[in-house]
Amino acid sequence: MNKIISVSTQKGGVLKSSIVSNLAGLLATSGKKVLIIDTDAQANIALSFGLNPDDFNTTLYDVLIDQIPPEYATMNVHKNIDLLSSGEDMTFFEFDVLTNIKKYPQPFRIMKETLGSLYNQYDFILVDTPPNLGLVQGNVLSYAESVLIPFQPEGYSMRSLVKILDAINNFRDQHNPELNVLGVVGTLVDSRTTLHSQVLQQCRAYCNENNIHMFETVIPRSVRFAASVAYERKPATLTDPKHPIVKAYFSLLEEIQEGEK
Ligand SMILES: Nc1ncnc2c1ncn2[C@@H]1O[C@H](COP(=O)(O)OP(=O)(O)O)[C@@H](O)[C@H]1O
Ligand SMILES: [Mg+2]
Repeated sequence: MNKIISVSTQKGGVLKSSIVSNLAGLLATSGKKVLIIDTDAQANIALSFGLNPDDFNTTLYDVLIDQIPPEYATMNVHKNIDLLSSGEDMTFFEFDVLTNIKKYPQPFRIMKETLGSLYNQYDFILVDTPPNLGLVQGNVLSYAESVLIPFQPEGYSMRSLVKILDAINNFRDQHNPELNVLGVVGTLVDSRTTLHSQVLQQCRAYCNENNIHMFETVIPRSVRFAASVAYERKPATLTDPKHPIVKAYFSLLEEIQEGEK
């Protein structure tokens, strides 16, 4: 299994952060040493571990822009899970880099160049990303070894899935030919909804035709689940191992591991 896995797409609210924190929970429980790198200025991963990102003195931004060693910005948040969090100043990253391009001749390679020392310290590095395609996402896709793409089935979502898959493929060809597109995972699925089933079927057909993997596992929608995890201050895979949605994360991880053998 590749070590550096990002969860990337151009949308918000499709479970990117939930997938990152819950997969981290499962891997950590199985004894793997995991680093989560949160590159989204909203810093939701810190929040999902009950931490307030406004309290952090040093964050990913300082590592990327001021060349602070990444170890200084990394904290332990659970047994076997370290976090390199972003913070609000990540909103300045793109502007800082693009307005000072002489200092950053390879603007997509800043993450890869500044985070190298972390690689040998972990079994897995999971990267959470912002809900757009820009300089941050480009840095992540240059740094990652594989990418997982969440897909929420809605009326018009096929069109944007086709676009994001094209965008990631083009980016890979130009900037990171080694990048392994793990595949598409359906999220927030209500299997009783005909629309969801239809759109997921379209998605499977499209992926099939275009040689893109689509996971059998989907992450079901559950408003009750979302409400209960909000109080836990830990990802559900660490607090509620028997929950059906946790089981979905478990089978997603199994499929990822299976596919990479
Ligand atoms: N299985 C679920 N069903 C419904 N809502 C969920 C589920 N899991 C998480 N949520 C909620 O959905 C929202 C978006 O999830 P999040 O992982 O933050 O998405 P993203 O990182 O793509 O913006 C969050 O408020 C989260 O609590
Ligand atoms: Mg998020």
